[in-house]
Amino acid sequence: MKLEQSFMDFMLQHQERHHRSYNFLVLLEAIQTAAKYIQYFYQTGSMKNVMGEAGVTNIQGENVMKMDDIADSIVLHYLKRSNQVICAITEEEADPVILNEEGGRYFIYYDPLDGSSNIKHNLPVGFMFAVAKRNLEGPEDNHLRRGSELRAAGIFLIPNGVFTLALADSGVFRFHLDETMTYVKPDSSDNLIMPENPKSWELSFNASNRKTFSAAVQDWLEENEQKYSFRYMGSLAGDFHRLLSNGGMFLYPAIVNHSKPEKNRPKGKLRLLYEADVAAFIAREAGGIAIDEEGRDILDIEPESPHQRTALYVGSKPLVEEMRKRLRG
Ligand code: AHG
Ligand code: MN
Ligand code: MN
Repeated sequence: MKLEQSFMDFMLQHQERHHRSYNFLVLLEAIQTAAKYIQYFYQTGSMKNVMGEAGVTNIQGENVMKMDDIADSIVLHYLKRSNQVICAITEEEADPVILNEEGGRYFIYYDPLDGSSNIKHNLPVGFMFAVAKRNLEGPEDNHLRRGSELRAAGIFLIPNGVFTLALADSGVFRFHLDETMTYVKPDSSDNLIMPENPKSWELSFNASNRKTFSAAVQDWLEENEQKYSFRYMGSLAGDFHRLLSNGGMFLYPAIVNHSKPEKNRPKGKLRLLYEADVAAFIAREAGGIAIDEEGRDILDIEPESPHQRTALYVGSKPLVEEMRKRLRG
């Protein structure tokens, strides 16, 4: 009889190999439980009429969907119950949420449901998260951490049931939800590395924004796009998921040339802490890289506020480095 390796078994081995505490296991257990409940609500949501808008806007002025709220409450609930989290920064709450200030060991940043425009079509969305650790020795314990200080980041692709997890200095691993609702690691799935061979590389960006990009970015696209296939599903979680296996580049550049200047987004659209850093951290562990509009490494950006935005270019090193040169003119 063949038994698959469960996600928690994989993590237990990992922690023991690295002589680490079990606190991180308790945290990840809470996170995966939350992901399964989001999965359940997403799959059954059409019957319960929760796939529509909530009728309110969030701190960022964006329409909140009922599923955004449901997913956020689920994650907060299990994080709180875990007792491991000092403070959580979530897309759906204006301020950081204090959970266990004294006993917690971790800071967590998350987007409970990424790709909201896919909800009403039941198409892929994601629960994206990143984890930093309390500074156990030092005096200063700031919840706004640079991506380079993260210990882990992951994406649950929902409802597809695939979980990608990057662990600091250890690599990227994939787990699949089986019939018993257990995330398991198939024998065939080893450390995930972005392919170096450009044959499979793809480009991913919202093409309708193209004329709004800087001249440098438009020129690069003009010169290079014929070399690659183009794929875009409108959820970073899904688009990045694909990119990790195929290589290439996902870009959400700064919007600087909009015909209605009030619609420009010189800082880009995606959020640093729970979107760009998650992708950048996973990319780094898979051999890739991520930069912003100035060509800075995303993981080096010092966050100033919970919901700050950034432009994002993430993917295979040679492509992103080419873009970096252009951006720096
Ligand atoms: P969210 O649904 O969490 O607000 O995030 C949406 C983000 C991201 O998932 C995606 O890559 C991007 O918005 C898509 O934006 P466009 O619709 O402008 O292409
Ligand atoms: Mn998002
Ligand atoms: Mn979201």
